[in-house]
Formats: sequence, structure tokens, C-alpha cells
Amino acid sequence: MTEQTLSNLLHENRRFEPPAELAAAANVKADAYDAAATDREGFWAAAAERLSWAKKWDRVLDWDNPPFAKWFVGGQLNVAYNCVDRHVEAGHGDRVAIHWVGEPVGDKRDITYRELQDEVSKAANALISLGVGTGDPVAIYMPMIPEAIFTMLACTRIGAPHTVVFGGFSAEALGSRIEDFKAKVVVTSDGGYRRGAPSPLKPAVDEACGIASRAGHSVDKVLVVRRTGQDVAWNDSTDVWWHDVVDAASSEHTPEAFDSEHPLFVMYTSGTTGKPKGILHTTGGYLTQAAYTHWEVFDLKPETDVYWCTADIGWITGHSYIVYGPLANGVTQVLYEGTPDFPERGRWWQVIAENKVTIFYTAPTAIRSFMKQGHEIPDKHDMSSLRILGSVGEPINPEAYVWYRHVIGGDRTPVVDTWWQTETGAIMISPLPGVTAGKPGSAMTPLPGITAEVVTDEGQPVDKGSGGYLVLTSPWPSMLRTIWGDDQRYIDTYWARYRDQGYYFAGDGAKKDEDGDLWVLGRVDDVMNVSGHRLSTTEIESALVSHPKVAEAAVVGANDPDTGQAVVAFVILREEAGDGGENIAKELSDHVRTQIGPIAKPRQIMIVPELPKTRSGKIMRRLLRDVAEKREVGDTTTLADQSIMDLISAGQATSTED
Ligand code: WTA
Repeated sequence: MTEQTLSNLLHENRRFEPPAELAAAANVKADAYDAAATDREGFWAAAAERLSWAKKWDRVLDWDNPPFAKWFVGGQLNVAYNCVDRHVEAGHGDRVAIHWVGEPVGDKRDITYRELQDEVSKAANALISLGVGTGDPVAIYMPMIPEAIFTMLACTRIGAPHTVVFGGFSAEALGSRIEDFKAKVVVTSDGGYRRGAPSPLKPAVDEACGIASRAGHSVDKVLVVRRTGQDVAWNDSTDVWWHDVVDAASSEHTPEAFDSEHPLFVMYTSGTTGKPKGILHTTGGYLTQAAYTHWEVFDLKPETDVYWCTADIGWITGHSYIVYGPLANGVTQVLYEGTPDFPERGRWWQVIAENKVTIFYTAPTAIRSFMKQGHEIPDKHDMSSLRILGSVGEPINPEAYVWYRHVIGGDRTPVVDTWWQTETGAIMISPLPGVTAGKPGSAMTPLPGITAEVVTDEGQPVDKGSGGYLVLTSPWPSMLRTIWGDDQRYIDTYWARYRDQGYYFAGDGAKKDEDGDLWVLGRVDDVMNVSGHRLSTTEIESALVSHPKVAEAAVVGANDPDTGQAVVAFVILREEAGDGGENIAKELSDHVRTQIGPIAKPRQIMIVPELPKTRSGKIMRRLLRDVAEKREVGDTTTLADQSIMDLISAGQATSTED
């Protein structure tokens, strides 16, 4: 929460009213806030009624043993049935579920709900034939191809919890997740297309299975989609081709209903320690809130809208707002495989124009990079079909918001700035497009049925016009249930800080403005947000320290005009490494890349003789951030050795930028 951000907010007084026509026909109107406040459980029960339950719940919420919640207790449902079959039964089998757009121009496939039902059923039967039963964990490491969605839904259809690992993660990161999750089967592809070239995935899976097996967990089967046709190493005892087992499988499969609290998926996310946290989401509450918020926040009209969310299915946004929410609502959506600007910078806008996309959901980091390229490129495409724009993943700067609304939305479209987290499972704080007058840069107010506050260290609500910590003050249906295999870490991370009040600590700083609207300012813990991706400082430090030349490392997130924050590392080398050699920065940067993945690569690595520490040995990241952001170094009086910052600043002269 820098002074500068706060003062910027103070000067922001632009307002955008909801378009009258949209407001008049909105799915959710202003009365929803009061209705939900009067009877919160009744409100969520009504939202759950939008789904199809094989057995209705006996109790909406069991919060007898906080922070362990159970929602729709005793209810039973099947997620794939809700996302697919019931739309076919309702007569929408011919509606396109997915307009898939591959990265190579012209590589396209339209999939109707009826076809989706066949594909998901075949994949479910194939998984069963590979030995996957109810409760057996499945890991998914795939590009943005339809088979990724078929696989996720097939897992839910048979009650096998999945974990999707982002395809940009390294073999090590995948291996540790496979091991932690105890995945029985891994589903992958030979590769995917990235910037016009096939980029391999299967070799990382092979390596990851080796890592998991050395750590004591063996994967039974690896199911491989042929996407690029690249050569792949083949292990006859584990590897099977998708086209052999799935294509041959029957398209008849009867979904079984599972308990509302049956584990649906685990999504790994960075925490403040080196070990990623496996965030567990369960069935009934998650699907209720993902589906309801998608319909509410995007004012979804499934008969006429064409929706597009640009997230990767490897992140929570891809889970809740590509797969589960939208498909539960019977939407027609675009799924795009590639990068935003390949083969030309206008690719996204061309996809919008061609498919007449009406609702578009993306991240501020993408908006900022397009903003840098100017309005001429988007101006060449007819995007008049758009009616609502969404933003997620990091604070959106007011200028980026206004540009997005103006250049992409032609000044017609409300922008919904949606705040939520992997842990919350679904959108929590956001304007409603037919109700709320949007302020650029503000996520505005908690949605109906959600209660949030901005509080002091002591847990007191701050006054209007002040900042503090963002907390959620009552349980919500799609909340995480625990950290996979680690209940204590769940309690300690989210519920210990405001134990007396029973608040969920989100880890974000926020400001409440004079009207009481919320401005989320970013992380207050050791988690960075680089291009909307959560990275832990400790995780990158551990990766650096695992390099033989490194003695100690400290990592900070520095403000960056393009990526929001960027990784800057301060490294002390081991004596025997001397000055590390002239390529040391690249060597260390490549090392982080193989340990975690390209997204974690430091923007800058500074070789320093010492790190600034307090007398108790805690690294003073605030001072390092000053150096990384090229500011005058702040107050150093609590440093054990005050001359260290001079040494570091001197070291800066010899720092290497990668
Ligand atoms: C940040 C992504 C400001 C925040 C859905 C949060 C945001 C973290 C916003 C979660 C927003 C997400 N405004 N900050 N609209 N949306 N964040 O788990 O710091 O990948 O804690 O979930 O992203 O990131 P995650």
C-alpha cells in the first residue's frame, strides 16, 4: 500500500452509470442486497435451486465447527450432469457449448452440448478403464484444448478429484504437485502451440513422474492427447494414447450423484512458505456460487450471449469461469488456445469480432500491454457485439479501466472489476453491471450474500476514507474447505489472525472510500502478483538457494508498469563461487525457470555482499523494495548493521539485468 497508490485513489472521481437498457433487463437487481442481508442462508439456498440435485440438502450451512464449513449438508448432485446433460435434456443439445479456436489460424472446432455429453461420457468411461474410481486423484497438465475440459468434467462425472497444473509450470513444480496430491493418473498432451511453434508437455510429465516416484509416489497411467504430432518418448507400461482409449470408449455413461461435500478439485497456489498450498474445493457449494455469480456478475443470457474468458484452465479463473460456472449456466463460449498477439497483435480482437463475443473477461496485465500498443489495432475490428467487460487477478489501474471501457467497449459496456481468490472459489466483491455505478479502480461492494470488511490490526472496521486489511466476515458456499492434507495450515493461514472475531484473512490490503466502496490494493504478505499470477517470495528464494553457487537470497516484488509487480532477487554467493562468473544472472534466472517455471523468472538479479536484517535476523524487505524500485532507501534504524544498505547500493552498480 504505497503512499502514491493511496493518493491516486483520492483523486479518482469518475463514475459510470449502468446502461438503462441493461439495468432494466438485469438478472439481478438492487433488491438482492437486502434480500440476502435479511436471510443469507435462504438467499444461497435459492441460488442452489438453480442446479439440479439428485437429493436435496437437509441443512443449508453447518458452521458448528469453524473454520470447517459444510454447505447443503446431505444433498447429492453430479457436476458433469449439471454442466452438460441437463442442458441436453432441456432441449439445448444443438447449442454450441464451445467455439474452440486453436492458435494456428483456421484451426477451429465447434462443440455442441450434445457432442460435449458424448465426449465427457467417453472420457469418463476411459478413465474408469484405466482404473480411476470415485475418490481417486487425477492430475491434468494440458494446453487450452477441448480435451482439457472433457477431462475435468469426466473426473467430476465419476467423482475423481482433479488438480489442473498450469502448462507453464516446470517438471519440478508438476512433480511436487503430483506427489502431494497422490495422483493416480496424469492426463496430458504431446504439446501445445505457443507463438506458432509446437511446445512440448509430455517430457515434463515424464520427468515429473520420476520426481514423484523418487519421493515415494508412483503414477499408474499417463493418458496423452495427440495435439502437435511431436515425437514423444513412450513408456509402454504407463503411457496410453487418448485416441486409443477415449475414442474407443462408449459414449453412454450414467452419472452418479455425489455428496455435496465430496472433494471436487484441488488447486495449488503460492503461500508465504516455499511449499504451495493445495486449496480444496468441494461439490455443491462450489458449483452453486460459481454458477450463480457467473450469471449475476456478467448478467448472463445463455440464449443470446457469447462469453469469453481468456484465463488458462490451470488457474482458478479457468476452473470457475470457463468450466464450472459457464457450463452449469448452459453458455456458449469461446476457448482460445494461444497467446494474445499471435500471429498478429490484433488476434484477440479478431476472435471477438468473428465470434460476436458479448461478454469478455480478462486480466489487467493484458489490458495494460494492449494499451501500450495503442488503440489503432483494436480499432480495426468490429467489437460492437460486446456488452459487458470484466477484469480479474490484480488491481486494475484507473487509466487501464478507462481505456478498456473506451477502446474495447466503445464506451457502452460496464466494466466489472471482480475481486476474489483461489481460496474463495468464486467472485466475492464486484459491481453488478445493471445496478452499480462503477468507479475505475474499485471492486466496489461485496456481492449479495457476501460480507466483507476492511479492518485494523486489532480487527476493528476502519472509518470511511481509511485503509486496512480485507477480511470476509461470514462463510460463503464456495469457500475453500481446507488445505489438502494440512488442516492446521488452513487454520493458521486464514483464520488465526482474526480468531476472536472469526474473520477470514484474505492477505490483501484495501481501502474503504468516503462512500464505503472498496479498493483492493494488493498483497500485504510475502506473496507477489506478477501478471495476475500469485508467486511466493519464499518459493523463489528456495529455488535460488538450491543453486550450488548461492548462499542466501531475498526476493521482493517491485512495482512494474507492465506486469503489475516483477520479481527482483538479491543474492549472496558462496565464497567458493567467487564473483559467480559473467553469466551468473542468466544462470540463476534459468535455474528459477527450471525449478518453478518461466513466470517466476526474476526481472533483475543483484549480487550483493550482505542482506539487510533486523537484530532478530528478519530480512527487511521494505528496504530491498526501495532499492528494487530505485527509490531513496527508507528508515534503516532497526538494521543490525547500518552500513549494509551502502554496500547493497554499491553492489547495485554491478548488478546484472537479464
Ligand atoms: C489479487 C485470482 C485487486 C488479490 C482470481 C488476491 C485482485 C489475489 C483482484 C488472488 C481485483 C484478484 N482487484 N486485486 N479485482 N482480483 N486480485 O488466487 O491480491 O490467483 O488476493 O485468484 O489476486 O489471486 P488468485
